[in-house]
Amino acid sequence: MIITIANQKGGVGKTTTAINLSAGLAYKGKKVLLIDLDPQANSTITFVDPHSLTVSIFDVLTDKAGFEEAIVNTEIENLDLAPSTISLAKLERELLGDIDSHFKLKDKLSELSGEYDYIIIDTPPTLGIITLNAFVAATHVLVPIQSSYFALEGTDDLLETIEKVKYRSNPSLTLLGVVITLHDRRTALGKDIVEQIKKVFKDKVFKTIILKNVRLEESPAYRESIYTFAPSSKGAKDYLSLTEEILSRG
Ligand SMILES: Nc1ncnc2c1ncn2[C@@H]1O[C@H](COP(=O)(O)OP(=O)(O)OP(=O)(O)O)[C@@H](O)[C@H]1O
Ligand SMILES: [Mg+2]
Repeated sequence: MIITIANQKGGVGKTTTAINLSAGLAYKGKKVLLIDLDPQANSTITFVDPHSLTVSIFDVLTDKAGFEEAIVNTEIENLDLAPSTISLAKLERELLGDIDSHFKLKDKLSELSGEYDYIIIDTPPTLGIITLNAFVAATHVLVPIQSSYFALEGTDDLLETIEKVKYRSNPSLTLLGVVITLHDRRTALGKDIVEQIKKVFKDKVFKTIILKNVRLEESPAYRESIYTFAPSSKGAKDYLSLTEEILSRG
């Protein structure tokens, strides 16, 4: 299963979900590869010291290195990482004029031949060439939606892009589900927003709702997933529950 985590809105919990879903699946005994496709490299920085990296996903996508050369182990057993660096921001320019530019990641992934049970892809907040590569390469899309007044703004463009990719290049691409993030269940507005999202996405909305939890915000700074940083926090409980729901769907 190759799961692309995408939403072109910034700050909705893509990276937090990528990190803690990958770690959760690894703790459940699955062999997991987390691919960081965001030039901001937030997933990468959570798991490895960026100064220790010599090869990144940018080198793979521009044919300068093989996938195996870029992949590094993390401190979590069963979890490997294909790291990003800021140089990934140059990808669009590098691939300009290449008729296969949307297929780069998919082609490169064929080098990995079934080593991983789950590949999780973290994407930047755009619908540009990087995210398109992630849609073409994936079997599933997971959309985090922030529980806020403007929650659904932009989801039309996102769904339209996914439909286009399905039609043109990846017919079996499936919406795995929508996960509501950064939710505040104490407010009436919060409840309304959840209802609105459920009206649009129906049974695609995960039962698990990720609550706002300050421990989730802190954990990347300490280079840890939520499970070791604050194992008894609400954040750990929520992401474990999401992990289990995804295991049961896949
Ligand atoms: N459930 C949560 N509770 C509290 N803070 C959270 C939660 N989820 C994410 N955050 C924080 O909100 C900010 C945005 O989250 P995150 O980086 O995961 O979003 P993103 O969608 O990956 O952002 P970008 O679009 O910039 O890549 C971060 O500071 C993160 O630590
Ligand atoms: Mg991010």
